[in-house]
Amino acid sequence: MSEMNRRDFVALAALTIAGSCVMCEGAFAAEDEKGSSKKEYPAGPVDCGSADDYKKDGVYDKFAKSNGVMLVTHEGKLIALSTKCTHKNCNVAKKDEIIACRCHGSKFDDQGKPTKGPAKAALFRFPLKKDEKGNVIVDADKTKILGEKEWDKDGSFLKVA
Ligand code: FES
Repeated sequence: MSEMNRRDFVALAALTIAGSCVMCEGAFAAEDEKGSSKKEYPAGPVDCGSADDYKKDGVYDKFAKSNGVMLVTHEGKLIALSTKCTHKNCNVAKKDEIIACRCHGSKFDDQGKPTKGPAKAALFRFPLKKDEKGNVIVDADKTKILGEKEWDKDGSFLKVA
């Protein structure tokens, strides 16, 4: 390599590295933007208020942003879903009675099962119970998540209607 060529090579390499850093910065900015929807929530019981408030079929997101819990009533059965998307952990949100993830577009039905990918697994479910006042208490602890085989067991849902 001649002296001139070497100098050109070094200049080109420097430009390439600088260009890459600008692109990296853009990628990190996008990651930060998405990262904000990957908020982690403290584990523990969440008092979601009176079970009577959940009698009507639908998706209830009152505790989604504060506790990462989404409650859903379907045919009189109330379940508690984690808002963590099973694709890459972004938090899902309620959108027109549908549960959707804004990171990569996954959608879930009211049982938390994916209806559109890339997520392939259902949203995790938390155990829930009624306390002595009739309030719904969700055990929002990821170590207590219920697998699909446990969805019919006591403690995985509440009858509200
Ligand atoms: S993290 Fe939800 S679709 Fe990718």
